[in-house]
Amino acid sequence: MNVKDAIETRRAYRALAPVEITEETVRDLAEAARLAASCFNNQPWRFVFVREREILERLFETLPDGNAWARAASMIVAVISRPDLDCQILGRDYFLFDTGMATAQMILKATELGLVAHPIAGYSPKKVRGVLGIPDDLTVITLVIVGKHTDEISDVLSEAQAAGEAKRPERHPFEEFAYLDTYGG
Ligand SMILES: Cc1cc2nc3c(=O)[nH]c(=O)nc-3n(C[C@H](O)[C@H](O)[C@H](O)COP(=O)(O)O)c2cc1C
Repeated sequence: MNVKDAIETRRAYRALAPVEITEETVRDLAEAARLAASCFNNQPWRFVFVREREILERLFETLPDGNAWARAASMIVAVISRPDLDCQILGRDYFLFDTGMATAQMILKATELGLVAHPIAGYSPKKVRGVLGIPDDLTVITLVIVGKHTDEISDVLSEAQAAGEAKRPERHPFEEFAYLDTYGG
């Protein structure tokens, strides 16, 4: 799959079916993140790949009802980092940016492998830390919910979430975010 196809195929689907996640898959995903650019090559990202059923069940308890769909995950990747693991230049902290770039590469790789990799912000970071043994000074930036897309819509999806499966949410038109030569131009 080329980059264009991966970008266009990727969706934050919520209707997930179980899928076997092999160690090779984990390695492939980690490698896609590993090759990402980062400030001074600091590589500030840390990932916990959770496949163990008992730990997954405990992670499901960290989710609000609105993310109940994520209980169908076959793997959850906890994405973590810390400001001092990356460049801090006069108020510009690059750890979130660089970890985000690495995570985006991982998500596109998952797409190429035929998986759904859906990042979420809706979870209790404190509880996630407790379940995974993550020290307090690390920020839990996102959980990436991994599974296989299915056309079968489970009851736990809200009406809006179910409708969202069929159609990618609208994006801003170019004029609203892409400028030529000067800001706003
Ligand atoms: C940082 C981040 C946090 C998100 N949090 C949630 C979430 O808590 N629950 C959820 O269902 N989707 C979540 N999403 C998915 C977005 O809603 C989704 O990417 C967006 O609606 C665009 O849809 P698309 O990715 O299918 O194009 C999140 C996405 C990102 C990048």
